[in-house]
Amino acid sequence: MANVTVIGAQWGDEGKGKIVDWLASRADAVVRFQGGHNAGHTLVVGDKVYKLSLLPSGIVTGTLSLIGNGVVLDPWALKAEIEKLEGQGVSITQENFGIADNCPLILPLHRDLDGLREQAAGSGKIGTTGRGIGPAYEDKVGRRAIRVCDLAHLDDLGPQIDRLCAHHDALRAGFGQKPIDREQLIEDLRGIAPFVLQYAQPVWKRLKKVRKAGARVLFEGAQGVLLDVDHGTYPFVTSSNTVSGTAASGSGLGPNATGFVLGIVKAYTTRVGSGPFPTELEDETGQRLGERGHEFGTVTGRKRRCGWFDAVLVRQSCAISGVTGIALTKLDVLDGFETVTICTGYRLGGKILDYLPSHAGDQAKVEPIYEEMEGWKGTTAGARSWADLPAQAIKYIQRVQELIETPVALVSTSPEREDTILVRDPFMD
Ligand code: GDP
Ligand code: IMO
Ligand code: MG
Repeated sequence: MANVTVIGAQWGDEGKGKIVDWLASRADAVVRFQGGHNAGHTLVVGDKVYKLSLLPSGIVTGTLSLIGNGVVLDPWALKAEIEKLEGQGVSITQENFGIADNCPLILPLHRDLDGLREQAAGSGKIGTTGRGIGPAYEDKVGRRAIRVCDLAHLDDLGPQIDRLCAHHDALRAGFGQKPIDREQLIEDLRGIAPFVLQYAQPVWKRLKKVRKAGARVLFEGAQGVLLDVDHGTYPFVTSSNTVSGTAASGSGLGPNATGFVLGIVKAYTTRVGSGPFPTELEDETGQRLGERGHEFGTVTGRKRRCGWFDAVLVRQSCAISGVTGIALTKLDVLDGFETVTICTGYRLGGKILDYLPSHAGDQAKVEPIYEEMEGWKGTTAGARSWADLPAQAIKYIQRVQELIETPVALVSTSPEREDTILVRDPFMD
């Protein structure tokens, strides 16, 4: 019965991949339920580094890994990623991998549009990953998407292609681009169809069977709550709902299946792309956090913006996503700092706020109220038990959980799978 839903509680890159990989050996199935190959999840196992964008992180332990209907799937990116992982010795078969046949596809025209819009947006640029995520979700909601199941019926695609092209050709003309080459698109889809179809299935049905057998399901979120299209720092967000509630709709199980909601929280804050970031440090300290934490994007290689821990944001994310407990990651990055700083509230126009307001202008204007704590002399890097942590680091963790009003279930102290402290087993809840 005990399932676990892993979500990012900040702006992504909190270390979800590492934690999902660690938990995967205790799960019977891992399911991705939203996002696409804009995600970049890094797993370190011994001397091997795996970078996953579309495949669930359970694939590395060989756990049944499923891509749910809530994901937008670029079939060519999928093939490339499977081939890359197979090259690293990971086995991906019809036994351990499946794709929901009702997943919408990301097509080359989506990537084109993502790029064209970003180029044209001037100061309104979102700083997307350029993977076509937004346009693909728009077509899903606009009822123009081509889905995985359509790959088995390419000869009947006429009316759908008409609908898709009517929309995109008009947009493309506005950008001075040629209309979509329909023949080429169908040809490309015909080329990739057999590869995708070998894994396609009604994932909801597979999950129903798995659950009936009493198996434990691990739902793997991508991005983070502050990138959620409703609850995040709109419009500087991604185009899916990243909150825990999506685990149900994006996989085909009811909301009672999501179980323990594990929010992944970095011990400081980072963000890639544009948008407000109250605790951002554009100084040597920010530089130092970025260097110590190797804060470069997995997908685009972009430098991540860095800042102190923002308890206001994480408290908000935990509330919105119904977080049961958090995994606090990258604590080791704070080793060696004389003092560590936490944002406990905001000032806006003479008022004190205990939440991030909804308006982008207000979000950009809030000034953090900080609390400073003594740092720790010893190291937390590689710690695997509470007893290995310096007393001052424990105080930091305790202050974090107090401020975010949510308990700590796990602490991560290095990129390596086993460098993880278990405080409370999320599967045992
Ligand atoms: P995700 O998108 O949430 O899966 O996170 P990313 O993989 O994009 O970024 C997290 C980075 O931090 C990766 O390079 C991980 O290997 C690394 N990482 C994860 N946990 C820890 C940790 O506890 N300490 C350190 N130093 N690095 C970590
Ligand atoms: P993981 O799963 C961090 C950000 C982009 C951009 C915004 C919109 O690795 O945590 P999109 O391409 O989704 O339309 O871009 O969202 N973004 C991420 N930032 N981690 C991610 O995934 C992200 N996926 C998207 O940088 O600001
Ligand atoms: Mg990432």
